[in-house]
Amino acid sequence: MIKRILKWTVSLILLALLIWFEIAYWTSTNDCDRKAAAPSNPMKAIVYCDYGLKNLKLENIEKPTPNDDQLLVRVRAASVNPYDWHFVEGTPKIMRAMGVGLRKPKDTRLGVDFAGTVEAVGKNVTQFKPGDEVFGGRGGAFAEYVCPRANRAVALKPANVTFEQAASVNIAGITALQAIRDKGKVQAGQKVLINGASGGVGTFAVQLAKSFGAGVTGVCSTRNVDLVKSLGADHVIDYTKEDFAKGAERYDAILDNVPNHSLSECRRVLNPNGKYVLIGGGGPNDSRWIGPFGRIIKTMVLSPFINQKMGMMMADANHDDLTILADMMQSGKLKPVIDRTYKLSEVQAAIAYLEEGHARGKVIITVE
Ligand SMILES: NC(=O)c1ccc[n+]([C@@H]2O[C@H](COP(=O)([O-])OP(=O)(O)OC[C@H]3O[C@@H](n4cnc5c(N)ncnc54)[C@H](OP(=O)(O)O)[C@@H]3O)[C@@H](O)[C@H]2O)c1
Repeated sequence: MIKRILKWTVSLILLALLIWFEIAYWTSTNDCDRKAAAPSNPMKAIVYCDYGLKNLKLENIEKPTPNDDQLLVRVRAASVNPYDWHFVEGTPKIMRAMGVGLRKPKDTRLGVDFAGTVEAVGKNVTQFKPGDEVFGGRGGAFAEYVCPRANRAVALKPANVTFEQAASVNIAGITALQAIRDKGKVQAGQKVLINGASGGVGTFAVQLAKSFGAGVTGVCSTRNVDLVKSLGADHVIDYTKEDFAKGAERYDAILDNVPNHSLSECRRVLNPNGKYVLIGGGGPNDSRWIGPFGRIIKTMVLSPFINQKMGMMMADANHDDLTILADMMQSGKLKPVIDRTYKLSEVQAAIAYLEEGHARGKVIITVE
């Protein structure tokens, strides 16, 4: 009897979940389904109504108006991050159930990193004024205008830095800084290995780890060895010829942008009290359902039982860290590496290039 009740209860719960999922899936909607009249004050922006790179379009939409705490910034350049293709592709698919949109993307705007000129400020804004050149992060940055909040991820652009260089910094630069300083707790004299040293995060991380006084080993392919050396790496491992996880060297911190080695392989080359910082989650075709979540859980489960610290990081873009990076750029200690530049109308091609997983530094979008 109890067995039958249990069986029926489980079946009913499963049925209810299935019905809930079906309803949630088919009622999942976005702005495109509520399309209003033509914008009265238009600006050009990248919009995607459905998942998939082919669905990106450059459209005229309403130009935003800053609220009391925001700035209106005319975007001069933006940069592309793997973060963008996660949203365009809707992968790993678990993201869709976590609020990104089950059937369609809830937020139809794209891009985060920007640099540009302040055109107007809200009445509570005292830190910035019209005419200031700024950079930072705000959703919907692949557009002619964005409205960041003045007290969030926005800072003054140094005069000796171009808009393209400044636009490259927000996600990649902040990730590198927080991975080294906050998660890796890197100290002068320590040995740091950066796996994926030639990409967006890696090119910032090599320079920042050097500025912390660390001995830096960068891992990249043959064609990027000279680039990574030129950024200050003390040693470069060409992954097409040598596997860092099989080497004799031991590191105090590993910053992992390319999780292509098992955790035990990484632990083998980590000092007994070393720190493993999981940054990257793989490409668009790696583990399309759960992405890096399996590895994240493994690091969390393992970490309390071993002396080595293992954990993932999530970059937290903020004004203070952007200002640190701005000061370093101004003094010449940090130089963004720019791979390619595309126009706003070419965002699709820019993201397709990044999805290949072999960018050298940052991919930039210029906004005329
Ligand atoms: N946790 C966070 O808050 C956070 C923030 C930003 C980014 N991320 C993640 O971090 C990762 C890196 O981001 P990114 O902006 O640097 O990406 P990216 O610019 O696309 O990285 C591309 C680089 O990866 C290198 N690479 C590819 N395969 C490699 C391998 N087997 N070994 C070593 N290097 C390899 C490539 O070098 P070669 O051409 O030489 O192969 C290329 O230079 C992504 O997964 C991204 O999603 C996480």
